[in-house]
This record gives sequence, C-alpha cells and structure tokens, in this order.
Amino acid sequence: MKRLIYSLIILATMSACHTDKGTDTPQSLSGMIQTDVPERPAGQEDMIAFAAPKLATVRVGIIGVGMRGPTFVQHFAVIPGVEVKAIADLNEASVIKANKILTDKGRPEAELYFGNEEAWKKLVERDDIDLVCIATNWQTHHEMAKYAMEHGKHVAVEVPGATTLEDIWDLINTSERTRKHCMMLENCVYDFFELTILNMAQKGLLGEILYAEGGYIHQLEAFWDHYDRDWRMEFNRHHRGDVYPTHGMGPACQILNIHRGDKMNYLVSMDSDPVTIPEFLKNDRNEDVTDFQNGQHTLTLIRTEKGKTIEIHHDVATARPYSRQYNVAGTKGYASKYPSPMLALDASSVDKSIVPNHEDLSAHSWLSDAEREKVLTQNKPRLLTELEKIAKENGGHGGMDFIMNYRLIFCLQHGLPLDMDVYDLAEWSCIGPLSAISLEHGSMPVAVPDFTRGGWNKLDGYKHHFAE
Ligand SMILES: NC(=O)c1ccc[n+]([C@@H]2O[C@H](COP(=O)([O-])OP(=O)(O)OC[C@H]3O[C@@H](n4cnc5c(N)ncnc54)[C@H](O)[C@@H]3O)[C@@H](O)[C@H]2O)c1
Repeated sequence: MKRLIYSLIILATMSACHTDKGTDTPQSLSGMIQTDVPERPAGQEDMIAFAAPKLATVRVGIIGVGMRGPTFVQHFAVIPGVEVKAIADLNEASVIKANKILTDKGRPEAELYFGNEEAWKKLVERDDIDLVCIATNWQTHHEMAKYAMEHGKHVAVEVPGATTLEDIWDLINTSERTRKHCMMLENCVYDFFELTILNMAQKGLLGEILYAEGGYIHQLEAFWDHYDRDWRMEFNRHHRGDVYPTHGMGPACQILNIHRGDKMNYLVSMDSDPVTIPEFLKNDRNEDVTDFQNGQHTLTLIRTEKGKTIEIHHDVATARPYSRQYNVAGTKGYASKYPSPMLALDASSVDKSIVPNHEDLSAHSWLSDAEREKVLTQNKPRLLTELEKIAKENGGHGGMDFIMNYRLIFCLQHGLPLDMDVYDLAEWSCIGPLSAISLEHGSMPVAVPDFTRGGWNKLDGYKHHFAE
C-alpha cells in the first residue's frame, strides 16, 4: 500500500512538469523517482584523476578462482613486475590448480587460503600485498572490496562492482576515505573494435556522438549449472532489472565522456516476462518457479545532461547469438559490432587513399570490408599498436582481458590514474538497482545520481594515461 501511494505522488509531479521541452532542468528532474545521495563526509575528497604512488613491483592477492579467476593468475604470471603473493577460494582444489599456473610458468608459489567463508580475510590482512583482485560471486564483491581498501590495498573487482545503491555509495566513500583505487574489471572497454572506435570518436571522425548502445545478450543455459552453489541463478531468480549491465555500459560511457564532461541524468526500463529460464528450471531441475523475477529481456534507456542517449540490453535467457549490441551513432558516422563489425562514414572522415570513389561516399551505406579494415588499421589507438600482439598471444576473450590486466599493472607501476575509477564502477553498476526501481514503478523515469557529487565536469573527455 505504501509503495502505491508513493508511486501516485510521483505520477502527479510528473504530469505537472510534462510541458518541459526535453531540457533536464532541476525542475523536470524533480518529477522523477530520486534516490538518496549521501553527503560527502567532511574532510573527504573525490577520486577524480587520482594517482597513487608508483609501485616498482605490484604484489597481488587474488580472491576467487572459479571459472573467471584463473585468467588473472595466468596474466599476472607473465606481466613483468607482478608477484602473485596469495590466492584464496572456498575450494582447496581450485587454489591448488591456480597455484600450478604460477609454477608451470616458473613463478614462485603463492600462499593459499581456503576452506571457509572467511579465509580470504587472512589474505587481505597480509602486509606484503598492494592489490587485491576479486573474482567471486556478485553478492560478495562489496564486502571484500571494502575490507581490502580498509586494510590499505588497492582493489580490482569483477563486474558488477556492487549490486545495491547502498553498497555502491559505500565503495565510493571507502575509496575516497582510504585514498585507494577501486577499479571494476570491465574487460569489454578493451575490445579491439570498441577501442578503435573510441579513438576514431576522439579524433572527431564520427562527428558528435549522440547515441551509444550496448548490452549483454548471452543465453547462459550451458553455464547455469557450473556457478558455485548456483549463485547466478539465485540472483536472477530474486532480482528484476538489468543485473549485468557493465559490458554494455563501459564502452558507451567512455565514448560519451561520462563524468568527464557529461553525466547521466535519468533512465527508464522495460522488461518482458520471464519464460525460458523458468522452463529450464522445470525441465532441467524439476522445479516449478512461478515468481522468477528477472525478465526475459530488459531494456534501459538513459538520457545525459548534454542531451545524448544510451540504450542498454540484458538477456541471458533467449536462444539467440551472443551480442553486446555495440552500436555508436555520431553526426558523421556509425559503427556497429554485431553480428560483424561494420562502419559507415561521411566522406570528410575517410582518406582518399582508402576510398578511391571518395566523393560518392556517404554514411548511408557501409564501407566495404577492405575499406573498413584499412580505416580501422589507420586508426588503431596506442594501446593496440603497443599491446595487440602480446594480448593475442596471451588471450582472454580474444586478448581484451590481457590488455585490461596489463593496463591495471602498468598504471599502478607508473603512478598513473587507472583507466577506470570508482565512479565508473558506480555508474555502470547502478543500472542494476535503478532499472529495478523503474520496472517496479511501471517504467517511471529514475534519476541517475551524480556519484562524483559535483565533480563530473572537472575533466575534459575520457583518456588513457601513459608514462610518456
Ligand atoms: N568480465 C568477464 O568477462 C567475466 C566473465 C565471467 C565472469 N565474470 C565475473 O567474475 C565473477 C566470478 O564469476 P565466475 O564465473 O568465475 O563464478 P564461479 O562460481 O565459477 O566462481 C566464483 C568463485 O568464487 C569462490 N568464492 C565464493 N565465495 C567465496 C569466499 N567467501 N571466499 C573465497 N572464495 C569464494 C567460489 O568458490 C568460486 O570458485 C563474477 O563477478 C562474474 O560476473 C566476468
């Protein structure tokens, strides 16, 4: 009953400001569902462009070596200037297997922690670790990341960084208070195509970027039974909304300079009824689930302060090909990643040597395969000209995981701001709880908090930092 009254009050306010013509003035924002923005505690500063003192060697502890965690061990075993000091997991066999990755590569053994839910705390409490990497289930990320920062460690945590607004704000406050990095391990921002399109956008070749789309379309039927104690199914069963938004959000927010000159103002979400997963539970596990929460397909639309739009999808149920729905539209060009990479560009954005019939070129049609490859090669960002070969050799989703892990270590070694900060973690993860609020209120607009608390316009655009 209480919720119903709350909704009606919001609807009344909405209709009162219906005549506002699309500008996101505080007045029109006041008609949306707002969530609490905790005041920044006195004496605490933001972490925008934060750089920690250089670390000649980065000493790492890894928590969680199930399906995902061993990739970190593999990469840290070959990146120069890294020592994996300790590995923790509930399961003894998993830590032993992960340790063997180190010894097989000729690296010293790590100290192993296992056997109970709290054993990872011993890893965090060690005094010879600089960075804690967390690759456990979503439900544990906040507690582990917070504990690590409070024990003087930088944190790199798997996606999403946290699942509730309360936990997201707590990670921001902990990072600001302890002056420790809290980076989310969002690997898709290092996909070679997305990186190249970001570079082209930064050079102005796509004109002004007005729209970015992303998502996670991946039927997980083959995976459901492999997660530790069914954590992922449990979460989907009990949570409506886009519970895994960050693979789509990362590339979209970087290309739109979110909290580097623009900010997200509000979102609306809509979902279709869950069908396939309840059927799977019936057929595969003989369970009748009538209150499954996560929709078959969840859609979220976001509008930014500077008048740009973002569209984000989540569907881990439907039998359809994998896609992260990466599409970017600018005033002079359009890039699309799935089912295969495509580019359409205005003549002014393409060199004559690449497209001989240059004058006839228009963004109404795709570049040919050969032309597109020439444009992409010509516009490779520095990250790829320097790292593509070694990334492909070491792999991890085609090499993007390696670039992410390499960059994390490189920036810590050189005392540079990391490629992703705690506000990226917040902005990309908050779509989970905020989309749930919109869905539970008939797709009402929900304000996206300014997680920087006023600092979103301090930086002029997104950039990767280099030592020289
Ligand atoms: N970025 C990507 O491409 C990508 C891909 C896969 C998974 N992930 C993320 O990685 C994380 C892990 O996913 P996964 O597929 O490896 O799941 P998983 O179930 O295979 O592994 C989770 C591991 O965490 C361990 N664990 C759980 N609670 C623990 C505790 N209290 N102490 C120590 N260890 C504990 C489990 O024993 C298990 O080995 C998730 O956040 C997931 O979203 C990211």
